[in-house]
Amino acid sequence: MNNLEYIEKHKKRFLVELFELLKIPSISADPKYKSNVVESANMVKDNLINIGIETACLYETAGFPIVYGEKIIDEKLPTILIYGHYDVQPPDPLELWSSPPFKPEIRDEKIYARGACDDKGQFFMHVKAAELMIATNQLCCNIKFMIEGEEEVGSSNLEHFVKEHKNLLQADVILISDTGILGNETPSITTGLRGLSYVEVEVTGPNRDLHSGLYGGAVANPINILTKMIASLHDEKNKINIPGFYDNVEQVSNEERKFMAQAPFNIDNYKKELQINNVYGEEGFSTMERNSIRPTLDVNGIWGGYIGEGAKTVIASKAYAKISMRLVPHQSSDEITTLFSKHFHSIAPEGIKVKVTPHHGGEPYVSPTNDIGYIAASKAMEDTFGKKPIPVRSGGSIPIVALFEKELNLKSILMGFGLDTDAIHSPNEHYGLFNFFKGIETIPLFFKHFAELNNKKN
Ligand code: BES
Ligand code: MN
Ligand code: MN
Repeated sequence: MNNLEYIEKHKKRFLVELFELLKIPSISADPKYKSNVVESANMVKDNLINIGIETACLYETAGFPIVYGEKIIDEKLPTILIYGHYDVQPPDPLELWSSPPFKPEIRDEKIYARGACDDKGQFFMHVKAAELMIATNQLCCNIKFMIEGEEEVGSSNLEHFVKEHKNLLQADVILISDTGILGNETPSITTGLRGLSYVEVEVTGPNRDLHSGLYGGAVANPINILTKMIASLHDEKNKINIPGFYDNVEQVSNEERKFMAQAPFNIDNYKKELQINNVYGEEGFSTMERNSIRPTLDVNGIWGGYIGEGAKTVIASKAYAKISMRLVPHQSSDEITTLFSKHFHSIAPEGIKVKVTPHHGGEPYVSPTNDIGYIAASKAMEDTFGKKPIPVRSGGSIPIVALFEKELNLKSILMGFGLDTDAIHSPNEHYGLFNFFKGIETIPLFFKHFAELNNKKN
């Protein structure tokens, strides 16, 4: 039986198993779902045991458990470490979902559920690909699985785990499906991730909420001030106005920019899909560049004052915002957070108190396109898509990837199969059946090519 026949024969069961996982609300950010997150970890472990990774177990951490399992068939063969995450983002706003986020269903050849693409549907492809390789006796590399439950909240406990288990995690390459492709007819491999610096700011004016008639005009209104401060963080060219912010930003060569511009991208479709009549961003850069090789600053949430029914005439004592900065190679998350904090304090008018609280961050990552990991992924995708994949830098972040490189000295190959339109982190997240099965078909070929290339190298 060849691989496609195996997939065809078992595809119904693969979906049933994935749906069991998707039914669990493993929301790492919300303490209410603690037991569900743990339940999800156990289910992943059981799935690994069932396919023949008998060593699968949970490593407890200060937060959620890490599912680890390995199958070492021969110490002399190369080892591939699979990373993924079983936690998901909160599903709200719930009313915008067409079907409940934790009742997976297939519509229009797509699986709808929170986590369908990010990342349950994607790491599960590796579990099923491993099942296929083990069942059909074609596993040609040692395999290790490390599936965590805190990616969506910054992976801080995984960081600790990686530092403490360097021997356990020894491998030749890390393979991750937690990113996307340009299109189902346009395969691509992610060669870069942006870093992240995330802060929460609090601006305080008077010691209590005030009558906006009695005091209005005479004291600084924290919400007015906060919005003014935020507005000043970009200049008229949409560059970020924080001194030193661009100091270490990698200047991508014109040659590479030209190469990037060749990737198929249709600006009209992009606008149409988002129902916007124009794009917006840093002057001098294309949309593709703005969301991959350039750093950004965005307000993710802003609140304060009265937001209930009707009108209340009040000047709030405090105003708040959550702000994320996406970073590109050579910017450091800690340095940028410090620069932000200094600057934000410096622009506050007298009489206003500012507090900046850093949240989790992470460093940017770039992967080579000339090592055997990349070449194996490229060949595997070329086999299954019939087209050579294009290397593309993504704007998203997976902070632990830079840490893998630093602590384990291992490169990660970001061979994801999602689409930008899969609505990850949004209502109606989905994952195409085409993408799910294409992934299961492609992964064993990665193993095959990696083993062959590794053989040639030695
Ligand atoms: N899988 C995503 C990141 C991603 C998606 C990268 C698509 C490239 C293409 C990951 O789960 C994620 O959401 N990361 C967060 C960062 C994290 C610290 C919350 C992000 O990018 O906002
Ligand atoms: Mn993810
Ligand atoms: Mn995510």
